[in-house]
Amino acid sequence: MTNDSPQIPNRNLALELVRVTEAAAMAGARWMGRGDKNGADGAAVDAMRNVLHAVPMDGIVIIGEGEKDEAPMLFNGELIGDGSSPQTDVAVDPIDGTTLTALGRGNALAVIAVSERGTMFDPGPCVYMEKIAVGPSAYGAISLEKTPGENLASVAEAKGKKVNDLVAVILDRDRHDELIEEVREAGARIRLIPDGDVAGAISTAWPEAGADILMGIGGTPEGVITAAALKCMGGQMVCRLWPRNERERNLSVEAGYDLDRILDQDDLVEGNDCFFAATGVTDGDLLKGVQFDSTGCRTSSLVMRSRTGTVRMISTHHRLDKLHKLSTVDY
Ligand code: FBP
Repeated sequence: MTNDSPQIPNRNLALELVRVTEAAAMAGARWMGRGDKNGADGAAVDAMRNVLHAVPMDGIVIIGEGEKDEAPMLFNGELIGDGSSPQTDVAVDPIDGTTLTALGRGNALAVIAVSERGTMFDPGPCVYMEKIAVGPSAYGAISLEKTPGENLASVAEAKGKKVNDLVAVILDRDRHDELIEEVREAGARIRLIPDGDVAGAISTAWPEAGADILMGIGGTPEGVITAAALKCMGGQMVCRLWPRNERERNLSVEAGYDLDRILDQDDLVEGNDCFFAATGVTDGDLLKGVQFDSTGCRTSSLVMRSRTGTVRMISTHHRLDKLHKLSTVDY
């Protein structure tokens, strides 16, 4: 395949995708603290979809809001983009952290990942996966076959730190009681997050965020999106599907999934040309949330591409007084 192939975009698509996450974040942020996570999500989905139509690509949603019957928009299998080349797989999460947004808590992000057609992992019936993620300085140090204590020891060694200097990011869930105990016994510090393991995983590759490793069980859609982000940043992720019950286990096995298989970022998003964009909805460790002012608002975004490893921070002021007179695709 040459660089002129319709499969491989020569341009940095992420620079166009950021308009999609900006639109979702602006719409979702209006619902901050209103106690209505579905309202926030719905507003972000609508805004994201409007702008996605104008993105120059022939995209198919691999990771969306769920199956068509439950999700009227951005459903898995939906065709998006303006239909022109390149052909892409798309993963969207209009808000990772709907509850964070509804409660006015930090670290909610609007995110999108795009890769070449046929390269994105479809997690099928499994909603959760076990995950470990680290940034580039600990690449190669993690394994799902090691205990939490062993992983912490090898991450500490790779980073030239002591285990008790490390910060492990873990979703605050009962299912993690044992993991939390083991991390405490190993001596590492813990950042328990209420939601948002995409931001949690990216923070391990973001030195200013003060996190070293993400561990625990979180959503499979978020896992695929995280894989795209970490590929761009040179980080590593290992994961394994985690069925919640017998039904999910049977459905997955019937659909041909190997539940023992350990997947990494290159299995979740194959190839080496994926794009990632995220915009802060609420203030967080990585990005500021949407800040409204008298003429509009300011958004903070992260835009990345794996082929080049370019990581851009984009701060944008949106003149909503002007934009409201225009079509939403002009964001
Ligand atoms: P939503 O924004 O869809 O609520 O997801 C937030 C999130 O915390 C993800 O970041 C995480 O992967 C998943 O939910 C964990 O699922 P659960 O809340 O069921 O433990």
